[in-house]
Amino acid sequence: TATNNTVQPATGLRITITAGPTREPLDPVRYLSNHSSGKMGYALAAAAAELGAEVHLISGPVQLAVPAGVQCLPVTTAEEMLQACEARRNQTDLFIACAAVADYRAEQVAEHKIKKQSGQDAMTLTLVKNPDILAQMATGSPRPFCVGFAAETQNVEGYAQDKLLRKNLDAIVANDVSDPGIGFGSDDNRVTLLLRKGEHTEIRPLPQNSKQQLARQLLLELLTFYKEQQQ
Ligand code: CTP
Ligand code: CA
Repeated sequence: TATNNTVQPATGLRITITAGPTREPLDPVRYLSNHSSGKMGYALAAAAAELGAEVHLISGPVQLAVPAGVQCLPVTTAEEMLQACEARRNQTDLFIACAAVADYRAEQVAEHKIKKQSGQDAMTLTLVKNPDILAQMATGSPRPFCVGFAAETQNVEGYAQDKLLRKNLDAIVANDVSDPGIGFGSDDNRVTLLLRKGEHTEIRPLPQNSKQQLARQLLLELLTFYKEQQQ
């Protein structure tokens, strides 16, 4: 580890990272969510702190320890995550959205436990779209440097490129989650980094690695790109 008087690559930078799933209540005892473990976001937060950044981690419910030197704000729903991100907008240089935000939530959260209806074999839930936290952070002002993640099972780079442009991002990390050895819940990951350079997108595949090693490598690449853009 570097000593305190060494200037690190992320010294003086404020990085906000979202991680984990969001959890959308249906009633007092049930929710909609997903299998995100939070490992990639927590690994990024740890690596960012090691590289000298001031790190704020806005995390959905996960079973992980907060990394050393990281400030963690726990949230539950997408709407809470959005409010927490907006509250940090003025103090964020780099925003990295690693959370698996639930795309939809229940239109109405039942006040009491929903009871099984006798004589009905099906039930219908009406869902409404959650806000897109990353797209909103990339549109508002002041606008941080914005990095997304795209977990895809097909046409990985194509869909990632669409999201890069549609959400007005600076970079996106594309992840093929159809490969069982990597992605959701696993300790390893293999990703492709897409960097937005004006009209052109630079595509950089990174070698498969532990989420820890990959997080450090990703951050170093992103910090270099960020500094180029600032010039
Ligand atoms: N994201 C977000 N808020 C949302 C949905 C997604 O901040 N409501 C962010 C994720 O954290 C990720 C990026 O957007 O960095 C892409 O998420 P993804 O689920 O792949 O994209 P969606 O736009 O939701 O598209 P879809 O799920 O239909 O592929
Ligand atoms: Ca989604």
